[in-house]
Amino acid sequence: MVTEVAQFLQPKPGMTLLDMTLGMGGHARHLIEAGAFVVGIDRDESALERAAHRLAPYEGSFRLIWGQMSQADELLAAEGIKGVDGCLIDAGLSMDQLLDEARGLSVHSRESLDMRLDRSDPDAVTGYDVVNGYLEKDLVRVFSVVGRKREARRVAHWIVRTRDRRPIQTAAELAELIAAHIVRGKYTRPIDAAPYLMAVRIETNDELTELTAGIEMGCSLLLPTSTATIVTLTWHSAEHRVSKHTLRRLAHPCTCPPALPCVCGKTPTIRVLTPKLLYPSEEEVHSNPAARSARLNAAVKLSPADRQAQK
Ligand SMILES: C[S@@+](CC[C@H](N)C(=O)[O-])C[C@H]1O[C@@H](n2cnc3c(N)ncnc32)[C@H](O)[C@@H]1O
Repeated sequence: MVTEVAQFLQPKPGMTLLDMTLGMGGHARHLIEAGAFVVGIDRDESALERAAHRLAPYEGSFRLIWGQMSQADELLAAEGIKGVDGCLIDAGLSMDQLLDEARGLSVHSRESLDMRLDRSDPDAVTGYDVVNGYLEKDLVRVFSVVGRKREARRVAHWIVRTRDRRPIQTAAELAELIAAHIVRGKYTRPIDAAPYLMAVRIETNDELTELTAGIEMGCSLLLPTSTATIVTLTWHSAEHRVSKHTLRRLAHPCTCPPALPCVCGKTPTIRVLTPKLLYPSEEEVHSNPAARSARLNAAVKLSPADRQAQK
């Protein structure tokens, strides 16, 4: 949804845009080519290295920073940047990360069940820890992201029964085990277990908490110019919900009962530009089927005058 992202962010010379999930730098490149200076953040050091290589022809038009989007204020402050004219969050993981066998993110991976996007801390929780260490009730909670309660209970039960005999070592092993038990008495394909592997990945990287904090952080870093915009691209229903609810909460922060005058003093900082999530066009899905799950949300920062008028 490169075109839609550009329609909302309106990149041009003189603008500083923050890409909080740089990945391979695909979106960043388009923003740079339109004339903007891009600050790119990613929690995966190897993604930054690859993006730096891809963006090398645009030297001087970008700055890349390793870290999490929830820490963007500190990361930008260290660079002397106080605010930005626009912000992009393209949540989740890149195709590169998914296809990297060693990360254990795909149902075909026969290497370690790591699943971390940031592998710099040897003590950080891995997918292996979640699958082999969590209590059964916590596995049910993790799998509830997939949205099928009864199935989630059955999958958690079989994981616990299996690991009691031997630990589950790889993503492929996990996918085969889940495929054998998602539907009672019927073996489905390992690929059908992909949403459950995604749920383990989301838990391992605390992705939904990070997404919430990243959106809040992005909104707070937007300069109060009435044009500074945040755009989110999300890829599955749990991310869509987080994006929609977080932006709505920032646009309607008052917690007082609707029938009473406001005493909480919380005023909106943004206005949502997309009352409904935007879908990719049919042409885009046709030429890039992976884009079919993407949904776009956007909101604009309110200027002090806008905020005054809303009181
Ligand atoms: C979907 S990819 C982004 C693709 C990118 N827009 C492009 O065009 O190449 C998501 C990226 O966000 C990174 N990421 C995920 N969660 C993050 C977080 N909390 N903070 C920073 N980066 C994060 C992942 O490591 C991954 O590289």
